[in-house]
Amino acid sequence: MKIPEFTLERFFARYEFSTPYILCSSDIQGMAMHDLLALADDDALQRWQSLTLGYTETNGLPALRTAIAQLYDGIDPDEVITFAGAEEAVFIAANVLLGPGDHMISTWPGYQSLYEVGRAAGADVTLIELRPEQEWRLDIDELRRAIRPNTKLILLNTPHNPTGALLSHDEWRAVVAMAHEAGAVLFADEVYRMLEYNPSDRLPAACELSPSALSLGVMSKAFGLAGLRIGWLVVRDAVLRQKLLAYKDYTTICNSAPSEVLALIALRASQRMLIRSRAIVLRNLQLFQAVCLRMPDRLQMVAPRAGSVAFAQILHAKPIAQIAEEMAAQAGVLILPASVYGYPGNYFRVGFGKADFDQGLVRFEAFLKQL
Ligand SMILES: Cc1ncc(COP(=O)(O)O)c(C=O)c1O
Repeated sequence: MKIPEFTLERFFARYEFSTPYILCSSDIQGMAMHDLLALADDDALQRWQSLTLGYTETNGLPALRTAIAQLYDGIDPDEVITFAGAEEAVFIAANVLLGPGDHMISTWPGYQSLYEVGRAAGADVTLIELRPEQEWRLDIDELRRAIRPNTKLILLNTPHNPTGALLSHDEWRAVVAMAHEAGAVLFADEVYRMLEYNPSDRLPAACELSPSALSLGVMSKAFGLAGLRIGWLVVRDAVLRQKLLAYKDYTTICNSAPSEVLALIALRASQRMLIRSRAIVLRNLQLFQAVCLRMPDRLQMVAPRAGSVAFAQILHAKPIAQIAEEMAAQAGVLILPASVYGYPGNYFRVGFGKADFDQGLVRFEAFLKQL
């Protein structure tokens, strides 16, 4: 399969490990091993210490699938499949569900693999544009109009990367019903779920609302453990589950054994993990909003409602790609320019997940002042 470059990942490959302050990451500050192990219960610690490093079960460690199922209402551990990050789940699901002659719908700007893999699999892709004047929210009527008789997949990311937008409860239920009526699979990329700033905004997972909807989750975002490369899909359709597992035989076969146990430890302590992640994000978001207030003629942002990122705007004649490059070189601060998404205007992604965000922000503000 031929597929275009993942522009955002290539951008990070160039800057992420050479720029001192990363102000645009979507993951939450990685947790240290000794802090994570300190959270382990006796059973998990025993699993860790006696772990043998053979192949593991293709659908995932049973105890881990049980812990994942407990994040949802009414989901059985057998309906969970684990993957090497959310990314592998997206890749496999799009390849299994789509082929030439099929149609899929997603949104833009967005995480590129959510629509690029389907396109590479031969599907016709409709991208619904998200707009700042609508606070980056998906227009439900536009979604309805985009559905065709051959629409096989509707792939939506909520809470949304890069805008931090979140659908309302009513909108979400309408989307789930719409996909079901159309006979399309709703693939809900919910990797930023549980990072809502107002807990009552948390939407039910798509898999809780419809037997044909898939819910995507991962350890990278709300749980601050991107390095584990553990993600999962909740799939209630047993036939589809078998197809996904059969495809996985050609990608990773099974997950990394140490990662499965470490993910288990984290999920059994999920409340503490989530408190930590939300505290980091909310602190950094407030600091960034204060900078927006101090320089309204230079920096603006539609306030995000959930997740670890937002799409802010620098008001300046210089193109954002050039501003980002100069900022990285001169201030040692990395922002993600909208050009990486092919999106026009001087927007950039800001990410609130890093522990040293405050130090990078001081440099960011100083750079903007002299721009
Ligand atoms: C919306 C969205 N989906 C999926 C992924 C992939 O997650 P992971 O890198 O943990 O596999 C990301 C990562 O940034 C993302 O933002």
